[in-house]
Amino acid sequence: MSIVDRILYWIGYTPWERLADLPAADQIAQLFAREEAGREPPYGAALDLGCGSGIWSVALANRGWDVTGIDLIPRALDRARQRANEAGIDLRLVQGDVTELEKAGVGSDYRLLLDFGCFHDRLTDAQRAAEGRGVSAVAAPDASLLLLAIAPDSGRIGSRGASRHDIAAAFPGWTIVDEETMDTTGAPGILQRSDPRFYRLQPRRG
Ligand SMILES: C[S@@+](CC[C@H](N)C(=O)[O-])C[C@H]1O[C@@H](n2cnc3c(N)ncnc32)[C@H](O)[C@@H]1O
Repeated sequence: MSIVDRILYWIGYTPWERLADLPAADQIAQLFAREEAGREPPYGAALDLGCGSGIWSVALANRGWDVTGIDLIPRALDRARQRANEAGIDLRLVQGDVTELEKAGVGSDYRLLLDFGCFHDRLTDAQRAAEGRGVSAVAAPDASLLLLAIAPDSGRIGSRGASRHDIAAAFPGWTIVDEETMDTTGAPGILQRSDPRFYRLQPRRG
């Protein structure tokens, strides 16, 4: 696991959480709404991969999803638990590795899977492929995976980044059905220059 993330949570430097206060949050709400279109809550099971302090887990739970968040770092999960308590909602939080989802015992039949900042960050290609296999094993047949990635080698932001090709390679049983540029209004320049994008993937049928 990444010692870097542990240190960042330890010192309380978690800049990715600022996204929740930027116009990108409205864009994310629209991405969630697309997954809910034509249905009534409860919408089903959602898995937040690398959930961190649970910002998006709580947002999904508030909208009517039955959310499980998984992260390696206890301190992040403590903050997620606190956030859920303050919001008065139930979250299932699992300390575990997104590259070993079956071992983590997260269950299955997830209709929505989210990876905002974990896949593209510091996982090796082999770990990314392992995450892809695990996600395929726990996803429902009609699932969507929403994945946020900055472009590879796009600056000194500290993440590896991931291209569309990298994502397709790690999720061979999935099709990238949508790709949209993140609204970086108000974001730090380094993020604006990193070309962050939201990808939507769905299991290949047949
Ligand atoms: C950039 S943060 C994003 C957190 C959260 N998704 C958000 O948007 O606020 C990446 C998160 O992935 C977690 N992480 C990194 N590698 C992981 C792994 N192999 N298994 C589980 N979590 C992991 C880190 O602990 C960190 O909380």
